[in-house]
Amino acid sequence: MTTTGIELDGMGSLRRSHRCGEVMSSAVGSEVVLAGWVHRRRDHGGVIFVDLRDKTGLVQIVFRPESTPEAHARAHALRSEWVLMVRGVIERRSDDTINPNLPTGTIEIDVRELRILNSGSVPPFAIEDETDVDEQIRLRHRLHDLRRAPLQRALQIRHDLARAVRESLSSQGFMEIETPILARATPEGARDFLVPSRHHPGQFYALPQSPQIMKQLFMIAGCDRYYQIARCFRDEDQRADRQLEFTQVDLEMSFVGVEEILAVLERVTLEGCQACGVVLPTPFKRITYAEAMGRYGCDKPDTRIQLELVDLTSEFSTSEFKAFRDVVAGGGIVKALPIARADELTRGEIDRLEKFVRKELGAKGLGWIRVEADGSWKSPITKFLGAAETAAIEKRCQVEPGMVILFQADAKDKANAILSRLREDIGRRLGRVDGRAWDPLLVVDFPLFERDEKGQLTYVHQPFVAPVEEDLPLLDTDPQKVRGTHYDVVLNGTELGSGSLRNHRSDVQRKVLAIMGYGPEKMEQSFGFMLDALDTGAPPHGGFAFGFDRWVMKLAGSESLRDVIPFPKSQRGQDLLMEAPSPVDEGQLEELSLRVRLAPV
Ligand code: AMO
Ligand code: AMP
Repeated sequence: MTTTGIELDGMGSLRRSHRCGEVMSSAVGSEVVLAGWVHRRRDHGGVIFVDLRDKTGLVQIVFRPESTPEAHARAHALRSEWVLMVRGVIERRSDDTINPNLPTGTIEIDVRELRILNSGSVPPFAIEDETDVDEQIRLRHRLHDLRRAPLQRALQIRHDLARAVRESLSSQGFMEIETPILARATPEGARDFLVPSRHHPGQFYALPQSPQIMKQLFMIAGCDRYYQIARCFRDEDQRADRQLEFTQVDLEMSFVGVEEILAVLERVTLEGCQACGVVLPTPFKRITYAEAMGRYGCDKPDTRIQLELVDLTSEFSTSEFKAFRDVVAGGGIVKALPIARADELTRGEIDRLEKFVRKELGAKGLGWIRVEADGSWKSPITKFLGAAETAAIEKRCQVEPGMVILFQADAKDKANAILSRLREDIGRRLGRVDGRAWDPLLVVDFPLFERDEKGQLTYVHQPFVAPVEEDLPLLDTDPQKVRGTHYDVVLNGTELGSGSLRNHRSDVQRKVLAIMGYGPEKMEQSFGFMLDALDTGAPPHGGFAFGFDRWVMKLAGSESLRDVIPFPKSQRGQDLLMEAPSPVDEGQLEELSLRVRLAPV
């Protein structure tokens, strides 16, 4: 007896003949055995209808007192999400009861035998494709959530993509090799998750942020071409496209240059997408980092949005407009976002945008010009503009009636970030997106270094990226100008993955680390092991890692990784189903020689 007081049946000798969504493969009049969950039950006086659901879809089953009095009597008790097995006969529905929205909508199953295999408690929410149930609740009840068709589809895409990627890489000579999870800290720029060692009190393993070092070791060990669908762990703030724990399609190759790697990436991306029903345009467009930042203000632009930024820094260096001139004098930039046919951007709307960028993005303001139908300009900044800036704006922004031009004057990164966000938001809102559904892009020629907030040069991607060979002399003279061999694959405005050639010579690697502020001791401590490995005979090598979950997210048309990862962490980093993280026993701590003392926050 169960909590619902219902006597449960076994399957007995009944065996499923079809999945619910696949009964149409049999003819009307045939007997079938189906199993699944009660999606919905409707009691129509004498007749009871149940929508039976499994991962393939729904089928209507009917309990008629005249067909099976016994099953019909028990069917009164059925509730949503109970698990059933039924034997019955496929019947054609009468014309007025056909459901054109259901693939099985022309038939129903006249039940002859009912087995109730499980009778659950009341489900927390209805299992519907579209839902407005709070995400916290969905994550707490993930088993119900996962029964929803969009999540089942996402799991299928994960499978199809993983399989296609494996096939593509295997056929290109890559070997799948696993790497340890209990590892040493790897420098991918996030915080590490640490695991205390019982045998070595006070010492910790770090979970890998990526298999970066390990895959380089494979190349040094002569493996030639490696790949892995690898789990990565990064203790960083969660966002829609960031999880603490995620999956990469990680790969590395020996004796290659950037072009050979890009050719592999294009093929894998293409074949992976194709297996999920998406045909990408080829060859992939290429854009340099500098061009992407210049035209779009970000290194992962959605180039389907047909708006571009205009750099007016030099025009404003001598402007009467002090707010802008001072920014340029301080090393900042002035950039504009011209939007033609922008009637929808009314004065009120621009005010709202200004509030948004000030409050959410830390902007100093939002300069703007509206070009009226008669060609005159309305603007809070024109009174500060001289003839030179006015002429420059006119020409460079290709001013026309109906245009709105938005301006940012700020430090380069900030001005670009703000305008890039406005470009994407406004571009989508005003429908300035061209018809192509898919926009793969290779972004190349990233700088090797950037300055951190303390002014120290640091890596843009990760510390093992090789400089472009012809820029090697610049390491001694002008490191900031050195280009890295780093490239990204971007799909519809999302960074799908990153990679580069690596330093295979320890002298170059040492030089790069020294420029990033590593003294001899710290270099030895953090990277000694890697430097020694390079000296054992490292071949030139390079590789890449796709964010597998992001890729699935794009293919599934989802906005959040949480919709495509079976058991994701919540925004606050919790697994709400299994209730992790959680406190542990004193005894476990003792074994690990640990005592918890919470620092005041
Ligand atoms: P990178 O750090 O750029 O490179 O990571 C590669 C790709 O992994 C995905 N990704 C994430 N996905 C979900 N949640 C996260 N927190 C997260 N962080 C990264 C992104 C990203 O493009 N070892 C290098 C690769 C290499 O050089 O070969 C690396 O890990 O899609
Ligand atoms: P003010 O002279 O401060 O009233 O600024 C005039 C207009 O320029 C206002 O619309 C401000 O929002 C805008 N503005 C001021 N500083 C900046 C800046 N750094 N970047 C963009 N717009 C700005």
